[in-house]
Amino acid sequence: MARINVSIGFDRKLYRQDLMGSRAHADMLHAVGLLTADDLAAIQRGLAQIEQEISDGRFVFKDEHEDIHMNIEARLREIIGEPAGRLHTARSRNDQVALDMKLWTRDACDQIDGDLQALQRALITTAEAHADAILPGLTHLQPAQPVTFGHHLLAYVEMLGRDRGRFADCRRRLNESPLGAAALAGTPYAIDRTMTAKALGFERPMANSMDAVASRDHVQEFLAAATITGTHLSRFAEEIVLWMSNQYRFIRLSDAFTTGSSIMPQKKNPDAAELVRAKVGRLLGAFSSLTVMLKGLALTYSKDMQDDKEPAFEAMETLSLCLAATTGMVGDLTINREAMRRAAEGGFITATDLADYLVLELGLPFREAHHITGALVKRAEDLGVGLADLSDAELAAAHPRLTGAARAWLTVEGSVARRSSEGGTAPDQVRHQIARAKERFL
Ligand code: ARG
Repeated sequence: MARINVSIGFDRKLYRQDLMGSRAHADMLHAVGLLTADDLAAIQRGLAQIEQEISDGRFVFKDEHEDIHMNIEARLREIIGEPAGRLHTARSRNDQVALDMKLWTRDACDQIDGDLQALQRALITTAEAHADAILPGLTHLQPAQPVTFGHHLLAYVEMLGRDRGRFADCRRRLNESPLGAAALAGTPYAIDRTMTAKALGFERPMANSMDAVASRDHVQEFLAAATITGTHLSRFAEEIVLWMSNQYRFIRLSDAFTTGSSIMPQKKNPDAAELVRAKVGRLLGAFSSLTVMLKGLALTYSKDMQDDKEPAFEAMETLSLCLAATTGMVGDLTINREAMRRAAEGGFITATDLADYLVLELGLPFREAHHITGALVKRAEDLGVGLADLSDAELAAAHPRLTGAARAWLTVEGSVARRSSEGGTAPDQVRHQIARAKERFL
């Protein structure tokens, strides 16, 4: 029983939140006449000493006291004696733990927001340096149209911006205080829940005491947002792995973010990126275990809910580490513009530009232009040349008004420069998007 029941091994992490809640609760008890000034002073003094002991690493956590709430209360009794027993008036461990997890989740949202912003900043800085570096844009992992590296990185800045929005929503929705719900039904004491809510930075008390002790959807929401962020990071990590590979050689990471092999001296492996790619499984695992734990639980509190903490703590650490590693890699990477550009030359990547030329310059319907271009790609493929290498006669054979003037449309520089529509890949457009991104996110 003792072994399955004990949680101090992991919920000690909540000591700051727990002390903060106790201070606010004690102040309120005094304000409404449930605690004398002397008892309040003793309690506050004892809590301050406990905080010092814990932060100095001198506090002795005891399994026999089960969890963080009872460890602190037991120590308070040792330090101040009888008044310690008055702190738990009009409170239960049920609203206490609900409060601690809310305060923890709120802090976690704030920290992740800062981590996400740091990654956005690194991406924007790198995008700015390479706003006009050309690489193949892919669909189905096949060459599609040339794009700019700055544009590619800004795509992630947008995803991370929505991720920040999800954490901000989570924070806003959770920011109501469960304290004062007591065990589940409220309390006969004339407490002031608004006072404790304000003292702890909440907008207001939660409206329903049963909901207050039974709900953990804010933790679910945090883990769902973490999982979605993790998928974005894993997609970026996969691209880093590809770009680092010998087949691409688009980027280099220094030894700081790669490892060698114990047997193959030439190796430079992007382990950090691979691990970031992997970790999303743990984030989803945390969401999954919390969700399955909550599913089917009758109201209100059940001890099952003690199991919300380890997945939440582990996910927070994992996500924060992945964000730090990714930010580090973005700052570290150097790009090989030549290799990127060379890769963008292949695969008839400007075929769409030829079709666009037929529409814009010769006035053909797009469907017909697409058909003619397809025939020319086929011809070039048969001859083993690029589209720009087809002779005037080959062009005229595809359409009588098609001349060598079309070749000017087939360069990758021209291709990206023309894609200046809002949100497009043209270097000038990308520079404009960078300026906007700085205003929106930094
Ligand atoms: N350690 C418990 C938890 O984390 C605290 C709440 C205990 N409440 C109770 N009624 N046993 O959930």
